[in-house]
Amino acid sequence: MNEKFSEKKDNILEVKNLTKKFSLESGFFARKDRFVYALNNVSFEIERGKTYGLVGESGCGKSTVAKLLVGMYKADSGKIVFKSSENRKNENEKNSSMIKYIFQDPARSLNPRMTVFSILTDGLKHEKKGIKKEELKKLAEEILEEVGLVKSDLERRPSEFSGGQRQRISIARGLLMQPQLLICDEVVSALDVSIQGQILNLLQEIRSKRNLSCLFIAHDLRVSCYFCDKIGVMYRGVLVEEGNAEDFYKTALHPYSKLLFAGAEGGKTSFKNEGEVKSSLEALECCPFAHRCPKKTEKCQKSLPEWTVLEDGHKVRCFCL
Ligand SMILES: Nc1ncnc2c1ncn2[C@@H]1O[C@H](COP(=O)(O)OP(=O)(O)O)[C@@H](O)[C@H]1O
Ligand code: SF4
Ligand SMILES: [Mg+2]
Repeated sequence: MNEKFSEKKDNILEVKNLTKKFSLESGFFARKDRFVYALNNVSFEIERGKTYGLVGESGCGKSTVAKLLVGMYKADSGKIVFKSSENRKNENEKNSSMIKYIFQDPARSLNPRMTVFSILTDGLKHEKKGIKKEELKKLAEEILEEVGLVKSDLERRPSEFSGGQRQRISIARGLLMQPQLLICDEVVSALDVSIQGQILNLLQEIRSKRNLSCLFIAHDLRVSCYFCDKIGVMYRGVLVEEGNAEDFYKTALHPYSKLLFAGAEGGKTSFKNEGEVKSSLEALECCPFAHRCPKKTEKCQKSLPEWTVLEDGHKVRCFCL
């Protein structure tokens, strides 16, 4: 690990050795000794004002990381350090209002019976007891306009909006608490390509205007490289490569990162994209990608590769570079 490289940074978030397993079965016949190992010692840092892209196929553990960050799950072990900015330190705010989580599917995360006004302001009403309705309305109107909707939308309900508009409402709800870190979990995955571009442009405008730090979670490595400053590639709950987003398509070394790029280009790959993410039912004592990797050797099946750190902080876990 290149300590000098990380010491100089102003990090808003530091995640160290996060580990999380879930019971495999539930109900009367559940066996308490069977688990899915969702996260295995995951560590990364997000620099203040920057966007970190956590990328991997479905089931890799990305949402589990997000849910641990906002306290929806409790980690089995590991550490999450959130560093508030100097001008917000004395406000006695909770981490829950500093970190906001925008989900993939706004249709499910927005209550269909509530008006947009209630959806946007319920959290703030709870956080700032005694806040006047006029003040809430003014804040909600301002935030709606910032995300490209109009004041009169406050009285409407989620079903009256398109998928893209619903995602704008989700973003507005996240922004109302003035968070310092925004977690965007597959926020464009369920949308048409043309709408995806609009939402990404909106997020780009918002984060530069507000100097927001972001954790951008996605399965699309190409979109993530375009949108993020740094990329972390995950497989079966293990971070396998990390590097600068700008030139990641040239610098990526891990066979899994290469597979993700090849997949995004329509399957032009030096090996077949066979198989799928296998949930880890045992604590990993091998390379997490060994069951799919065409370059695997005997060693890959006997131990988990340590990080190899390159000159510019790019790092990769693979025995066969
Ligand atoms: N609440 C849960 N209970 C049991 N297993 C879970 C739970 N949440 C996630 N998992 C399992 O943990 C693994 C990682 O899931 P998840 O973090 O949702 O992945 P991703 O967001 O990358 O698709 C998967 O095998 C998933 O089935
Ligand atoms: S360590 Fe082995 S199995 Fe894992 S990615 Fe590298 S070559 Fe493939
Ligand atoms: Mg997910």
